[in-house]
Amino acid sequence: MSGATTSYGRVIGIGSYLPKDILTNDDLAKIVETNDEWITERTGIKQRHISDPKTDTTESMAVEAAKRAVADAGIDPAKIGLVVVASTTPNVLFPVLSAAVQAAVDADNAMCFDVNAACPGFVTAFVTAQNYIKSGMVDCALVVGSENLTNYVDFADRGTCILFGDGAGACVLQADPDIRYDAIMHAAGKRRECMRCESYMQKGVEKTEEFLKSNYINMDGQTVFKFAVTEVPRIVEELLSKSGTSADEIDYFILHQANRRIIESVAKRLKQPIEKFPMNIQNTGNTSSASIPILLDEMKKNGDFGNEKKKIIMSSFGAGLLWNAVLTEL
Ligand code: UT7
Repeated sequence: MSGATTSYGRVIGIGSYLPKDILTNDDLAKIVETNDEWITERTGIKQRHISDPKTDTTESMAVEAAKRAVADAGIDPAKIGLVVVASTTPNVLFPVLSAAVQAAVDADNAMCFDVNAACPGFVTAFVTAQNYIKSGMVDCALVVGSENLTNYVDFADRGTCILFGDGAGACVLQADPDIRYDAIMHAAGKRRECMRCESYMQKGVEKTEEFLKSNYINMDGQTVFKFAVTEVPRIVEELLSKSGTSADEIDYFILHQANRRIIESVAKRLKQPIEKFPMNIQNTGNTSSASIPILLDEMKKNGDFGNEKKKIIMSSFGAGLLWNAVLTEL
C-alpha cells in the first residue's frame, strides 16, 4: 500500500476465462420452444459458454482470469494493494471471492472485498478501485468480474435461458499521473422489480412452486430493454459533457454485452458508427459483470488497441436498476 499517489489508474494488464463447453442456439431449441433464427434476430447471440459443473465455479473462473491479467501486466503481485471481485452469482457467500483470488495470485499485501451490482458490477468495481487509487490508499488494483449465471437460469423459461452465459474477466490498474479518467454511476431503486432473483435460504419462507421459481433469474425483458436503450445513450452523453469530450473523439464504446439490438440502438442514438461498438455477444451471450473485461481481453489480443492511446467509454446496465459509464484511455 502507498500514501503517495493522487492519480487515477491505467489498465496495464487484462485477462479472461471462458469455460470450454458451448451451448448453441440449436442445442437450446431441443430444450425449450425456440429456434436459432429468433434468438439471432432478437439478441445477436449464436452460442454461449457454460460452466462445467465438475471444474468451473465462479471462484475458479475469477482466479483464472485474474492470473492471466496479472501475467499480462507483468508486475510483482506483492505490489497489488486491492483485489475487488464483482459477482452476482458467487458460489460461496463467504469468504469473499476476492480472498481466493488474492491467495491464487500471491497478492499478499492487498485488501479484499467483493461487489454485487449485477451486470454493472465490473464497471462499479473498476470505479471503486479507481477511487481507492485516486485517494492514495493503493497504487495498484486487481479488478475482476466473474459469473456463473447458468446456475441461476431456469432452462424452462425461454425468455431468459437463451440470453446468459458464464465466464470471467479481469484487469490490473496501476496509478498513472497522465491517465485520463471520468465516471458517472446512476441507480433507480424504485424501478427494481423488473429483474429479480431471490435467495433460496430464507427462514420462514414456504418452499412453494412459486417461491422455487423466484430462485431463478426473473426478468421483464421488454422493460429492461426500454430502460437500456433510453438510459445508456443518456449517461454516455452526460459523461461526454462532464469530461468536455465529443463522441467523435472516442475510439471505442465498450458496452455491456446484453443484446445486439441494444448496442445498435445506442450507436444510432449517439450518431456513431457501429464499428466503434465492438461486440462478442454472438459467442458469449450475456455474461453479466464479466462481459466488459472479457471483451477488453479479446480486443487486446486482436490488436484493436494498437500502439497509440485509445480513448474508450465503458458502459453497463442491469438489475437494480443500475447503470454507469467510465471514460478512460487504453
Ligand atoms: O444484462 C441486462 C439485463 N437484461 C437485458 O438486457 C435484457 C433486455 N431485454 C431483451 O434483450 C429482450 O427483451 C429479450 C431478448 C429478452 C426478448 O426480446 P423481445 O423482442 O423483447 O421479445 P418479447 O419478450 O417481446 O417477445 C416477443 C415474442 C413473444 O411472442 P408473442 O407474444 O408475440 O406471440 C414471445 O412469447 O417472442 C416470443 N418469445 C420467443 N420466441 C422464440 C420470447 N422468447 C422467445 C424465444 N424463442 N426464446
